[in-house]
Amino acid sequence: MIKPRLYSGMQPSADSLQIGNYIGALMQWRELQDSYDAYFSVVDLHALTQPNDPAELRAKTRRTAAQYIAAGIEPSRSTLYVQSHVSAHSELAWALSTITGFGEAGRMTQFKDKSARYGADATNVGLFTYPVLMAADILLYQTDVVPVGDDQKQHIELTRDLAERFNSRYGQTFTVPTPVIQRDTARIYDLQNPTAKMSKSAESDAGVLWLLDEPSKSAKKIMRAVTDSEGVVRFDREAKPGVSNLLVIYAALSGRQIAAIEDEYAGRGYGDFKKGLAEVVVSEFEPVRERALALLDDTAELDRVLAENAGRAASVANRTLSDVYDRMGLLRRV
Ligand code: AMP
Ligand code: TRP
Repeated sequence: MIKPRLYSGMQPSADSLQIGNYIGALMQWRELQDSYDAYFSVVDLHALTQPNDPAELRAKTRRTAAQYIAAGIEPSRSTLYVQSHVSAHSELAWALSTITGFGEAGRMTQFKDKSARYGADATNVGLFTYPVLMAADILLYQTDVVPVGDDQKQHIELTRDLAERFNSRYGQTFTVPTPVIQRDTARIYDLQNPTAKMSKSAESDAGVLWLLDEPSKSAKKIMRAVTDSEGVVRFDREAKPGVSNLLVIYAALSGRQIAAIEDEYAGRGYGDFKKGLAEVVVSEFEPVRERALALLDDTAELDRVLAENAGRAASVANRTLSDVYDRMGLLRRV
């Protein structure tokens, strides 16, 4: 049976992924790779839209790929590669930019937020065309489903619009993808500021649990996480954002129901609860961290795996690109 195709990716924007990336993205990707023909990329071309030190970007790209594998994305089953290794991404992005409206791209809220924050002169054109490159990522692989966080929903809408527009103008070429928006319960908040989403780019490190941190450091951060003065372990997002966030992490990593965890800690203090959570986090992270560090110890082997996967990706991507060029009327080299 042919499996439907799935595509997702993350920017190599930090040395380590944080627990929100792990629970909100990697755990789902790992699960979905059974029922889908899955493609997962490290989107380094997208990362160029932010200021980067070249050597650091290279290191972060390898580190991100290593963490995908360490978290259970299998490069022999799924196609796990670095976006810039497949040149068709940049090429299709150009072609798609010619059917994207200037106003349409200007309505993307992520672009509007960023350009408002930095000002027009400090905003590069790459930020403006970022969603077009993302559409190219997805459409090159005739993708059926795209699991993403809800902040990416608008970009997937644009991707669908571009696919439909191209198909109606030039003939059926692209599969129109469907977004799979991450469950609300998979959203993780900052441990120190539990109403803000945990992020790789958080201002303070104290509220972020890094996948590659020493386990003892993560345990300490959990013990210091912000709670409240009620002293009861129960889920209530509004009144108890700190405790609720810890419960969500506990449930996601242990595979248990929140109610069962509440029962276990009934009549006990936050200290006990945090100690229990620290154990769960450390036992989940420790093997992932060790696998990632081992992979990063042998970059030649990691690079070989990435090259092999990029080769697989390119053979699919180049077929789509060639159809696109043909249909748009570019004279093909004989
Ligand atoms: P980012 O690090 O923002 O590029 O996100 C990469 C992926 O991780 C996306 O699929 C996000 O939805 C997911 N992600 C990032 N931060 C969180 C979070 N705090 N909670 C849940 N998922 C997250
Ligand atoms: N823009 C996405 C994010 O910030 C990353 C991304 C790039 C992506 N290309 C993609 C996600 C294709 C899914 C499919 O999270």
